[in-house]
Amino acid sequence: MSSAAESLDFQLDSPEVKNNPYPVLRRLREEDPVHYVEQMDCWLVSRYKDIYDLYTDPRLTGDRRKWEYYQQPAAGSFFRWVDDHGLMALDKKTHTMQRRLIGSGLTPSGVRSIEQKIRDVVDHFAKPLHGRTGVVDIMKEYTTPIPIVVVGSITGVTAPGVDDTQFSELAQAVIRGFFGMVSPEVLARSERNYVQLSQWVKDTIRARREKPEDDLISYLIAAKDGDFFLDDEGIVAQVSSMLAAGTETTSSGGVTCLITLLDHPEALERVRADRSLIPQTVNEVLRYGFGGIGGSQRFALEDFEYQGRKIRKGQLVILSSAGASHDPEVYADPDVFDIDRNPQGILTFGLGPHYCLGANLARAELGNIVDAALDFLPRGARVLHDQIETEALGMFDRKVNCPIDFGDGS
Ligand code: HEM
Repeated sequence: MSSAAESLDFQLDSPEVKNNPYPVLRRLREEDPVHYVEQMDCWLVSRYKDIYDLYTDPRLTGDRRKWEYYQQPAAGSFFRWVDDHGLMALDKKTHTMQRRLIGSGLTPSGVRSIEQKIRDVVDHFAKPLHGRTGVVDIMKEYTTPIPIVVVGSITGVTAPGVDDTQFSELAQAVIRGFFGMVSPEVLARSERNYVQLSQWVKDTIRARREKPEDDLISYLIAAKDGDFFLDDEGIVAQVSSMLAAGTETTSSGGVTCLITLLDHPEALERVRADRSLIPQTVNEVLRYGFGGIGGSQRFALEDFEYQGRKIRKGQLVILSSAGASHDPEVYADPDVFDIDRNPQGILTFGLGPHYCLGANLARAELGNIVDAALDFLPRGARVLHDQIETEALGMFDRKVNCPIDFGDGS
């Protein structure tokens, strides 16, 4: 390791790095772009070009069973199913067929056709926020339930206003088990909640077999790709996986959009005055504000050398999406939030065969979250940064609240 690299003495999980990963990522890109993280015996990749290449490098896989420290979840558990049959574990042919089945409703035209469902969910949670004063936890009341109820509504499991609080709480408990390297207690609680959630989804499947409706479960029951189809267990697991992949990400994305705009009042005023700027504003937030120091996880299928580093078979390689998004080789003045930038080629949704299936849906949700919020956020509303709390979940940190001072109504 170079002497410059040796002097990089940060802790990945220190509060300073978690709160503001960009200075460390800048140093890593400049001094040690494929950095060995001793604490976790893994590699952290921080340059756009390397991340771009490694996303499609056949010597790496997203299948966590190939990790040298992998611990197999209990037989018969949901997490065992995810590890053995989830999208990361499938061979190429089955993966392509599964993506076709699940993703068919999430193409740009598919998402346009469910735009009204998305808007109904967003409006349902925006309505009580009109005219509010004082401090509002925008995460609890707005951005957390929306993506969960959107997935519930698209799949057909729930609808806005119908059991959505119960569904949202159950789903949140299940989702926590998906965070990398969580404690056995969190995993066990998640598993218990999954049993309840799966019963709920199974009841919906039974109802849709009798009377199909315009939702994803009805579609998955009927859909076949050659000889391939999903049985009830497969449908339950896919709905749960969509909840896992598409809710926490979009919820924190919604919060990031609102915080970023409130922290940049000039941009906020421009978007208030011209709502057609929303898609490009969301696109810039996806570049500017997404991802902590970590990112997508890959595991080496063989020993190989990359940029002078010896990567061992079974080692974890982390592709830092914030590292890529703030690489000055690709984005000029990367630490500046500029809604006119409309950045191209962002890697926030990954790249290659596992590119985010829900990217179109996520963009639509984030756009609607911003649009509806502009109607209830009073001028002068401000984020109470010092009151934001986080909780550590495995190697991740997540916000648990986002207090915004709505003012006194004057
Ligand atoms: C802002 C919100 C979101 C972000 C930042 C995000 C990010 C990502 C990333 C980086 C990947 C690639 C992971 C890898 O290669 O290791 C991914 C995959 C995936 N995402 Fe998203 N995602 C978001 C929202 C959603 C939504 C709304 C859904 C669906 C409801 C969804 C479903 C999926 C699925 C199913 C995969 C796995 C695809 C595969 O393995 O073939 N995501 N997402």
